[in-house]
Amino acid sequence: MCKKSLAAHGSQSPLFLRRVRMSELKSLYEVADAFARDANVSKAESEVRYRRSVLDPEAFWREVAQDFEWLRAPTRIKNTSFDLNDFRIRWFEDGEMNVSVNCLDRHLADNGDKTAIIFESDDPNAPARTLTYKELHAEVCKLGNALRNLGVQKGDRVSIYLPMIPEAAIAMLACARIGAVHSVIFGGFSANSIADRVADCGSKLIITANEGARAGKYTPLKKNVDDALNLPGTTSVQTVLVVRHGPSTVDMQMPRDRWYDAVMDGQPETCAPEPMNAEDPLFILYTSGSTGKPKGVLHTTAGYLIYAAYTFKTVFDQKPDDIFWCTADVGWITGHSYVVYGPMANAATVLMFEGVPSWPNASRFWEVVDKHKVTIFYTAPTAIRALMREGDAPVKRTSRKSLRLLGSVGEPINPEAWRWYYDVVGDARCPIVDTWWQTETGGILISPIAGATAMKPGSASLPLPGVQPALVDAAGTLLTGEAEGNLVILDAWPGIMRTVYGDHQRFIETYFKTYPGMYFTSDGCRRDADGYYWITGRVDDVINVSGHRLGTAELESAIVLHPSVSEAAVVGYPHDLKGQGVYAYVTLKEGVEADDALAKEIVALVRKEIGPIALLDQLQWAPALPKTRSGKIMRRILRKIAENATDQLGDTSTLADPAVVDQLVADRKNH
Ligand code: PRX
Repeated sequence: MCKKSLAAHGSQSPLFLRRVRMSELKSLYEVADAFARDANVSKAESEVRYRRSVLDPEAFWREVAQDFEWLRAPTRIKNTSFDLNDFRIRWFEDGEMNVSVNCLDRHLADNGDKTAIIFESDDPNAPARTLTYKELHAEVCKLGNALRNLGVQKGDRVSIYLPMIPEAAIAMLACARIGAVHSVIFGGFSANSIADRVADCGSKLIITANEGARAGKYTPLKKNVDDALNLPGTTSVQTVLVVRHGPSTVDMQMPRDRWYDAVMDGQPETCAPEPMNAEDPLFILYTSGSTGKPKGVLHTTAGYLIYAAYTFKTVFDQKPDDIFWCTADVGWITGHSYVVYGPMANAATVLMFEGVPSWPNASRFWEVVDKHKVTIFYTAPTAIRALMREGDAPVKRTSRKSLRLLGSVGEPINPEAWRWYYDVVGDARCPIVDTWWQTETGGILISPIAGATAMKPGSASLPLPGVQPALVDAAGTLLTGEAEGNLVILDAWPGIMRTVYGDHQRFIETYFKTYPGMYFTSDGCRRDADGYYWITGRVDDVINVSGHRLGTAELESAIVLHPSVSEAAVVGYPHDLKGQGVYAYVTLKEGVEADDALAKEIVALVRKEIGPIALLDQLQWAPALPKTRSGKIMRRILRKIAENATDQLGDTSTLADPAVVDQLVADRKNH
């Protein structure tokens, strides 16, 4: 997006943003003495670290990097510039390491028998399965060998489309072991989305399961892969490995399809780790942006791992006995950084949960906490709001005594939900870390450090060491002191993405051109008098539904595939549970009659095209869409109508046909 268009955009976008109430800015929860006493980082230490990290990032990250196992220790630490004439992001660039060695092998001597993964099935009556670090290491090695036998080599791409089962972590780490680049695809994506992602990166192999379970319902994962591989552009795939999970039978297409357990059988439990340069790719993860199809965010080896590991240990005040439960699916960045890489680089015990918060009942999360004595619990505001709606009783009938720390991620947490999380779930004992970050950032950038940072409900608080946020106005002028504007980051941190896979120009255009010399987050933000950051939401055309990113362009492209549709525009609107909901305006072709059956067909089509996560919450027939004289859709107006704030439409005089708006407003009232 060029600067000019953003300026226009900047003036339109805050429509949707959360308004931070003045009284909220002052509500402060000091760190409890009891927590501070044993915390890894004190308030004073966090301030010293921050200053050091900004004044001398080289020295700061050199020291952090010493805690990792290197095949060749780096001598060059930071070689980065956001200057468009001299753009480069390289961290630890002459170092060599293997990520799986850092997550597994180096723990074997002291922590080999420590539990690495506790797996809690969707079915509450199924026995929990655990893997020690030794066992996890053995599984990863076996799969690494199996993949090599199947012809997967360093640099090859492997897609992973699995439920939340230990094999997902094993698959990621096995790729890391042999230097293959994984691309995890969330199980809620459809065959078309799989095909797009496979085609974009040219995967050689896919690891899937016969099915996945959520709330007692089954998703036919292998069947979705079969359908995807019947679509154009997917011929790069030579092998499909199928994990047996759940009772359903599947068609195996030989010789392409292989059972996971069959290829693992007899493999040695050691596997030579591939030496990887610090800047060799580790994984690709697709995420939605303002325009076009989802882009392949590429993260590399050492910078990503060190950043995920450092932020995990720091933010969550991790101790050796902690049982850490991050409820995110490994299909998202939160699952990558805080189910797999961050915790495992720290020899933590993680809980992986295949199910959902509210099934078989609204106590499930807390029953799992009690069952496995979870100490740190990290989830999304949308889950908290949904559980809050069920009242306190489902929480109160569980103990939760093991909990000592709570976390939030994915979207702004409204202060009401924050307080409920704090008072009811945490019994007013557990600090909350509200962690702001993005797929692109690799790890948490703005968050309280548990035990060190006083909390304000609804604020992600302060930047972590090495992170230099700033606010700019639409013209790119830096704002000082208390201010509200667009959030940018001024200098690189080790976990920042390195490129958009196969399209470096798109990377530069998307993140560094809007405000030259700065990384643009596409989030709006307010900074209060104490320097605390309050993320207000996306200022681009990304809709954050229950903490999942959906691009309006993707949704619109799916809708217009319907033969009866001539045009569509999608916007986000505030949704009590999901944070944002999807509101679609649909214009039909001449002569087509609008009715409920057609609306259902369109909703089903979008679900088929993108996946069950792409739900159109509201669909309004639009005889026409409001456009400027140059033909640009005026989303600002559409957002206001969706929000039911039709008294705030603002200036409509630049529209080609202002009557279009009157019609939409009238229809909205009857909607
Ligand atoms: O708008 C911000 C919101 O989620 C976006 C990033 O989404 P994604 O790449 O899918 O990563 C989600 C998990 C890291 C951001 O641009 N967001 C994420 N965390 C928070 C948040 N908004 C407010 N507060 C947060 N803690």
